[in-house]
Amino acid sequence: MTRTEGTYKAQAAAAGKRDAAKQRERTKMVPVVTDSIIPERDAGQTILECRHLGIDFGGLHAVEDFNLTVGKTEIAGLIGPNGAGKTTVFNLLTKVYAPTRGTILLDGMDTANMTTDQVSQAGIARTFQNIRLFDTLTVEENVRIGLHNQVKCGMWSGIFRLPRYWLSEKEFHDRSLELLDVFNMADNAGDIAGSLPYGAQRRLEIVRALATSPKLLLLDEPAAGMNPSETAELMEIIRKIRDEFKIAIMLIEHDMDLVMGVCEGIAVLNFGRIIAKGTPDQIQANPQVIEAYLGTQETDDATVRGGR
Ligand SMILES: Nc1ncnc2c1ncn2[C@@H]1O[C@H](COP(=O)(O)OP(=O)(O)OP(=O)(O)O)[C@@H](O)[C@H]1O
Ligand SMILES: [Mg+2]
Repeated sequence: MTRTEGTYKAQAAAAGKRDAAKQRERTKMVPVVTDSIIPERDAGQTILECRHLGIDFGGLHAVEDFNLTVGKTEIAGLIGPNGAGKTTVFNLLTKVYAPTRGTILLDGMDTANMTTDQVSQAGIARTFQNIRLFDTLTVEENVRIGLHNQVKCGMWSGIFRLPRYWLSEKEFHDRSLELLDVFNMADNAGDIAGSLPYGAQRRLEIVRALATSPKLLLLDEPAAGMNPSETAELMEIIRKIRDEFKIAIMLIEHDMDLVMGVCEGIAVLNFGRIIAKGTPDQIQANPQVIEAYLGTQETDDATVRGGR
């Protein structure tokens, strides 16, 4: 390990501990019906409720009896070993897969008959485990794709380029830059997305998801491939998104510094079933979670892979 990497690691670890301490001070969690806990400030205001959710792939119960409630401004974590079913839960929430069993309520609305587009319109946005950007388009064009689901100009104004069309174009441009600015990326607006460094590409994916004005933002392993300083920065970004956009965020992550530092409520999945729910402190002390996932030994970089 180089000296610089070592410094990054030490800084990120210190930041993680500070953030975890800040988080503990700040969030009081209260119980809700699905035997989950949500932040007290969200009491009576939930954005997501999953009841007995399940999906089978052939004989495999990939997700089974998944019950979870997320508060309107909560930062929630979903963790567990490789293959536990975490991404499948996101695929169920975004209707990539139709559940075999159970119910998903988004802001009180049953999403059973919705398509992926309708769920996006209704307020769920996501990023993917493997970055999915339009590599050859510019940063701004990528954000505009996210904004596209808010298009207000009609077909005729589009075809004949009526004033409403240009107004939309200007609105799109201004809104894109405004969003990019929140992430200090406005100067990159004209850059080709594929040419950005890895961490910036991950950030851009988040900006694009935010452009759809979600109520719930799903992040699938946002820190994957990031160096410790980028991960520490990501922690700040996640908190900033929640504070500025007042939305809920649910993240899947193997980087325990990030999860324990930023999440308020955490659910642990193992072989498709939730084996524990709780605050970061409760999860870290839970013997079943330690056995199935966290392990008993200190890991060098606090990143857990597989069911150690
Ligand atoms: N479309 C599919 N068809 C069949 N099996 C699937 C499908 N999608 C997921 N699975 C299986 O469901 C299980 C859960 O996979 P999933 O990708 O949700 O895991 P994960 O918790 O996200 O793992 P990781 O941490 O490695 O990303 C795995 O056994 C996987 O092989
Ligand atoms: Mg996954």
